[in-house]
Amino acid sequence: MARTPRTTILHHLVLTLCILSGQNTPSLASTAAIDEFLGCLSADIPSRLIQTPATPSSYSALLLSTARNLRYILPDTSKPLGIIAATEHAHVQTTVRCGRRHGVRVRVRSGGHDYEGLSYASVHLHKHNEPFAVLDLATLRAIHVDPARAEAWVESGATLGELYYAVGAASRSLGFPAGSCPTVGIGGHLSGGGFGSLARKYGLSADNVLDALVVDADGRLMNRSSMGEDLFWAIRGGGGESFGVVLSWKVRLVPVPETVTVFSIVRSRNQSAIELITKWQEMAPVSPQELYLRVLVLNQQANFQALFLGRCGDLRRLMQDRFPELGMTEQNCREVSWVQSTVFFGFSATSIPLVQLLNRSSNPRYYLKVKSDHVQEPIPRDVWESIWTAWLEKPEAALLMLDPYGGLMSSISPSETPFPHRQGNLYQLQYYSFWYENGTAVAEKRMSWVRGLHKEMEPYVSKNPRAVYVNYRDLDLGTNELDGDVTSYEKARVSWGDKYFKGNFKRLAAVKTMVDPHDFFRNEQSIPPLPAAKMIP
Ligand SMILES: *[C@@H]1O[C@H](CO)[C@@H](O)[C@H](O)[C@H]1NC(C)=O
Ligand SMILES: *[C@@H]1O[C@H](CO)[C@@H](O)[C@H](O)[C@H]1NC(C)=O
Ligand SMILES: *[C@@H]1O[C@H](CO)[C@@H](O)[C@H](O)[C@H]1NC(C)=O
Ligand SMILES: *[C@@H]1O[C@H](CO)[C@@H](O)[C@H](O)[C@H]1NC(C)=O
Repeated sequence: MARTPRTTILHHLVLTLCILSGQNTPSLASTAAIDEFLGCLSADIPSRLIQTPATPSSYSALLLSTARNLRYILPDTSKPLGIIAATEHAHVQTTVRCGRRHGVRVRVRSGGHDYEGLSYASVHLHKHNEPFAVLDLATLRAIHVDPARAEAWVESGATLGELYYAVGAASRSLGFPAGSCPTVGIGGHLSGGGFGSLARKYGLSADNVLDALVVDADGRLMNRSSMGEDLFWAIRGGGGESFGVVLSWKVRLVPVPETVTVFSIVRSRNQSAIELITKWQEMAPVSPQELYLRVLVLNQQANFQALFLGRCGDLRRLMQDRFPELGMTEQNCREVSWVQSTVFFGFSATSIPLVQLLNRSSNPRYYLKVKSDHVQEPIPRDVWESIWTAWLEKPEAALLMLDPYGGLMSSISPSETPFPHRQGNLYQLQYYSFWYENGTAVAEKRMSWVRGLHKEMEPYVSKNPRAVYVNYRDLDLGTNELDGDVTSYEKARVSWGDKYFKGNFKRLAAVKTMVDPHDFFRNEQSIPPLPAAKMIP
């Protein structure tokens, strides 16, 4: 790297950090460390793969390429001091080693869909004042499908849509259980769990992971046999930020019929939407595993969307038997391949061509705030009535998503993976607010809608803890605080740890203690190491 740009970077960084951090002026040592970090990278990584604020247009283009929540590119969020667009596994190892050596933390981004932007932004510099770099894995996206063994290796930077497309191209009778948004990255999705339309039949993505390649905090590359079963357990649901960088995943593909059926039925309030939602709560979580029936409530309409692993005629009989009130007929059905069903859930239409699954810019850019709950008892009809009137009819009302559990989800033990939300949960409820206008007034209105409704729902959802799926990240639950040089276990446990992980939190912290005792991989909600006292049995 030439001398002049380096100097410019330093000036820029000093200025940026001073403005953002208020009274905490960074020491000269940390500025020098950043310089040394960048120098360390450049020994092994071509400079065209490293973007810093010294070249604002290419830095900004890479930063924004998958910054999926516009709230976290506003001026009050701190930006990475550099972004490394790794194209080889060795680049990841080098970045981790250089970061360790020079005290620069590394955040890892696959698809950039963390609801709170933690893969590319930091909102708590005022507490931690820690410079960080982003390791962008978007180019590490190879997918190898082995249809004969019903397995695939998929790199973390691939998207769900790319994996679905590759599986569909290899076989019409194989699928993979994962989420509905095609641009979500494999890395974050699988390491947080991975809920989707096949979960009732086959569990989460994480329940179908067979092996993985991980770079640990010392920059070593390990697979399942060399990492050991504790770390292999932790990366399948413990979140993508705490233990290392997962480069690649070996997954089990699952059998699906060559023809599956989808439908979308929309009902407004004057078409019994509220009665139907009330009934849905008792029906969807206990229906046969072949049926996934979710509800999206948007614009004062309830949209019932189904995936059925079978033909239309059988689905119609099932619906007639279990949910006749919905009035589903054969005209509502679309019989498609499984991969085409992923297009239906991704884009709410079956007519969109399969190649759109490969489009990394298919989802619009917006500001986002999401909160979520687990529902364990059906919510009474009169509660839905009053929520509908008081909240859903407001102009700033957002999207509600009701996603059924049950089926295999209920028979997997809550400690099998770090994802603890198994038996006893009827469905997940997301309050998903998105908006396109920049400005604090709009943002405050949208955010207070989400927070207000979430508060209102407290009596009707899971308690002690009020449980949340880690991939629906919510910084309102609380953020890490330091206890000496590492993040505090107790603070994390009571604020967000129990809510995301329940009884698995302590084991996650024990794994953290084993693989990253110095807490190199950390962010606002990373797993802390156990305090020394807790390690004595
Ligand atoms: C895992 O790595 C070990 C060496 O570290 C190697 O012997 C083994 O074949 C690898 N396993 C797989 C499944 O790649
Ligand atoms: C039902 O409500 C929708 C708006 O949600 C409205 O467009 C429609 O006209 C109403 N239909 C009847 C019969 O009232
Ligand atoms: C990707 O999707 C966006 C949004 O739908 C669209 O504007 C764009 O043309 C698509 N790109 C390609 C290559 O199809
Ligand atoms: C939003 O507004 C702020 C302050 O008015 C401005 O600095 C920022 O660049 C705007 N962001 C976008 C994405 O337009």
